[in-house]
Amino acid sequence: MALLPILRYPDPRLHTRATPVSLFDAELRQLVADMAETMYEAPGIGLAATQVNVHKRVVIIDISEDRSDLRVFVNPEIIVRSGEQSCEEGCLSVPGVYETVVRAENVTVRAMNERGEAFELEADGLLAVCIQHEIDHLDGKVFIEYLSQLKLGRIKTRLAKKARITA
Ligand code: NI
Repeated sequence: MALLPILRYPDPRLHTRATPVSLFDAELRQLVADMAETMYEAPGIGLAATQVNVHKRVVIIDISEDRSDLRVFVNPEIIVRSGEQSCEEGCLSVPGVYETVVRAENVTVRAMNERGEAFELEADGLLAVCIQHEIDHLDGKVFIEYLSQLKLGRIKTRLAKKARITA
């Protein structure tokens, strides 16, 4: 296993649209294992392959307290969404920034696991938020892009200052 470097906003590679996985091979399982190690180490509760500069439709999520419930979504697709919820979100690609985003309260997602077995999952609350946040990454979208231009501008300025200090 290996830790993978995480792309940081505003890296333009975060805006790449990921392509579907067609080969469920050892390389894919290695990617999932490396992503899991990277997410747990960060630590975070979700990670999309886009964030580690692999532009394939792969997402992992673990919202459990004891990090014992790894969920793998390959080629995920939201087929039903309903309701509305506001949640304060953060992102490993935008460290230190937490902002409220409005998303669907309930989603049904259709996906495959890393062995190519299809499943459907109904999710609500935090899991539904995570699924939507991570699938957005696969489509090249970062959560702060839901904010107003004014707020986004302020965040960009703040991130640029921080980058200068840590560089
Ligand atoms: Ni994120």
